Amino acid sequence: MISRPGEKSLTDRQAPDILSGMSEVFPLFGRDFIFGAASAAYQIEGAWNLDGKGPSIWDTFAHRGGKIKTGETADTACDHYHRFAADIAIMKQLGLDAYRGSIAWTRIIPDGTGDVNQPGIDFYSRLTDALLEAGIAPWYTLFHWDLPSALQKRLGGFRNRDIAEIFGDYVDVVVRALGDRVRNWITINEPFEFAFFGHVLGSWAPGIKNPLAYFPVMHNILRAHGAAVRRIRALSPGSSVGITLSLTPVVPASDTEKDRRATEVADAFLNHIDLSPILKGCYPRILEEHARILLPKVLPGDMECISQPLDFIGINYYTRERANHAWYIPFLHAWVSGKDAAPGEFERAGVQYTAMGWEVYPEGLYTLAMMLKHEYGNPPVVITENGAAFEDLLSGNEVHDPKRTSYLRSYLEALSRAIDDGADVRGYFVWSLLDNFEWAEGTRPRFGIVYVDYPSQRRIIKDSGHWYARLIKVSKGPG
Ligand code: FCB
Repeated sequence: MISRPGEKSLTDRQAPDILSGMSEVFPLFGRDFIFGAASAAYQIEGAWNLDGKGPSIWDTFAHRGGKIKTGETADTACDHYHRFAADIAIMKQLGLDAYRGSIAWTRIIPDGTGDVNQPGIDFYSRLTDALLEAGIAPWYTLFHWDLPSALQKRLGGFRNRDIAEIFGDYVDVVVRALGDRVRNWITINEPFEFAFFGHVLGSWAPGIKNPLAYFPVMHNILRAHGAAVRRIRALSPGSSVGITLSLTPVVPASDTEKDRRATEVADAFLNHIDLSPILKGCYPRILEEHARILLPKVLPGDMECISQPLDFIGINYYTRERANHAWYIPFLHAWVSGKDAAPGEFERAGVQYTAMGWEVYPEGLYTLAMMLKHEYGNPPVVITENGAAFEDLLSGNEVHDPKRTSYLRSYLEALSRAIDDGADVRGYFVWSLLDNFEWAEGTRPRFGIVYVDYPSQRRIIKDSGHWYARLIKVSKGPG
């Protein structure tokens, strides 16, 4: 058993914290632990209409005007499409084992179905070769929310059951083209956020506001995931396949019976809505009790498709939520907020927030990893996103971001404790490699460990990036 961070005795999984001077020791993760950085096509690539690419729902949404808080679009973003070689050189400098990027469906099949766009395939092929050449393993997400607009228009996107096999056909094309070199696939990024913000609140693409859309969209996303797993298994049997879920510990806003009940419902709505069908082949029972009428129609074969065995579960984790009883929410009677009920209450109690207004809550990573261990049979887990936006100032060639370093450090400490306690966590990807286009927030929040000076497109590794590089180096040991 290795000692906890803070205890003085050094073991083979701890090293003197030469990194940040914040405490004496820092837990190490062992040679085989995968350290990476993550990003997504729409948020970094730019080149939104070049070389045959079709428009995605995010292109359409941002171009509509009034949807992105800064009034921007991601037409250029980080211009990664043209600068990927330099970005890979930075990844190499950081010592990353792996890079999580996503494939833009609209580069591969611009209209969603039909003709394949060879220049799009060539782009990802060049990217893959350059990563491998640099000794960095590509981990590709096949859907990070940028659905071809043509499919939204023609079929109603994820409201339509046909989307699952259509997605499968696109995955087929990608895996045939890259499967000889890419060994790690993530089918879908964050079903909850895509379904809820895009189809219930309408604050994200495709911008639909329909409280009844959540469950059917979720169900079709999960079916699309299953269709993708089948295609990948058939075409590339040796590769590793998972899905990325955003998981959020939920705690009651107060100690009342009503808030505790709301917490159980919210936990099911946010977390078990996808964990349960994927890992147990059924929707959470509490939702059957409270919201049976809203639940999707499950046809024969759906659950078998959704619950195929996976090689890992990807977790994106940022913060926790507090649940309140909410009489005004039909059936569920629950609502969540990351904020305190009385403004300023948590801040006065020493709680910190990121520039997104998200509570800094490292312990949640421990809670989630242990929940997967105890409630879901300890599947292999990869943290596919974790990180923070803070105000960053460029001073010369440096960006001093102690809050981000401290954030990463505390979350990684919590993760290390979960590993000590038996959670099967195999890797960690920081969100994000680069500052990028943060969806409806535009480029204002900076999540990168590498600063992007958008006017010049210059990249500067932040102090947190240097810290992460040293952590990786020390973790891998000599040689
Ligand atoms: C996640 C998204 C990712 C990024 C981070 C901050 O929900 O998957 O693209 O926006 O949040």
